Amino acid sequence: MSVEAISDRLRAAGCVFAEDEARVLLESAGSAAELAAMVRRREAGEPLEQIVGWAEFLGHRVTVEPTVFVPRRRTELLARAAIRAAGAARSVVVVDMCCGSGAVAAAVLAEIPGAEVHAADIDPAAVACARRNLPNGTVHLGDLYDPLPDRLRGGVDVIAANAPYVPTTELDLMPPEARLHEPPAALDGGPDGLAVARRIVAAAPAWLAPTGTLMIETSERQADALRAAATAAGLTAHIETDDDRSATVLIARRART
Ligand SMILES: C[S@@+](CC[C@H](N)C(=O)[O-])C[C@H]1O[C@@H](n2cnc3c(N)ncnc32)[C@H](O)[C@@H]1O
Repeated sequence: MSVEAISDRLRAAGCVFAEDEARVLLESAGSAAELAAMVRRREAGEPLEQIVGWAEFLGHRVTVEPTVFVPRRRTELLARAAIRAAGAARSVVVVDMCCGSGAVAAAVLAEIPGAEVHAADIDPAAVACARRNLPNGTVHLGDLYDPLPDRLRGGVDVIAANAPYVPTTELDLMPPEARLHEPPAALDGGPDGLAVARRIVAAAPAWLAPTGTLMIETSERQADALRAAATAAGLTAHIETDDDRSATVLIARRART
């Protein structure tokens, strides 16, 4: 099959970047039969990244396994902020909270190979995938901070989290790729979308080093409420945005006493 033939089929199935995707499928398939199967899966709405098994994130390929959240390009703002904050510390400890595939932690390790990187997720499929992406990190299975080793309390330089933040009532409005192929627990942020993020913020002061930084991806409309939660937890917070990627990140530090 040619790029043109594949992109015609993908365009008819509603893929916006049909030609780019056609090239990726052609490059990834090992045989004509595999290519035909991949095109059929994409026509049926499966995310391209889950079909080919990788996503590009901050210039690197991250392994993406079926049912694991596909890392979004907007999350590169969070990863860049984590790298920037981690780069300033001498012997740095970084936690990728709600890690999914571990894309954020992998980006940190690619830039700072000596960092002590921990990643955590409640979904065993995500943890298995993150372990493949983080051979030099430690990946924990469990609810938020619960599975982290106790010795990290008060000593984490960077906590970076892209937790679920879609309000429950808006899950049905998500594109089918997310709604049907990513687990609800990866998307559902509770009534106002901030249920998980608020829990991360509330417990962060106990885990952050005195000069540590918490950063959480959020949306523009949720940013003020999340900043208020950070202030209530005793953190000093501001918001960073990248308009080109529609990305919004809360950056919070322990307030000096
Ligand atoms: C939006 S996805 C982001 C994944 C990854 N950080 C990324 O940016 O590609 C949210 C992730 O949070 C995980 N998650 C949801 N609730 C959690 C909890 N209570 N504790 C740990 N992980 C959780 C989900 O399993 C999912 O992998």
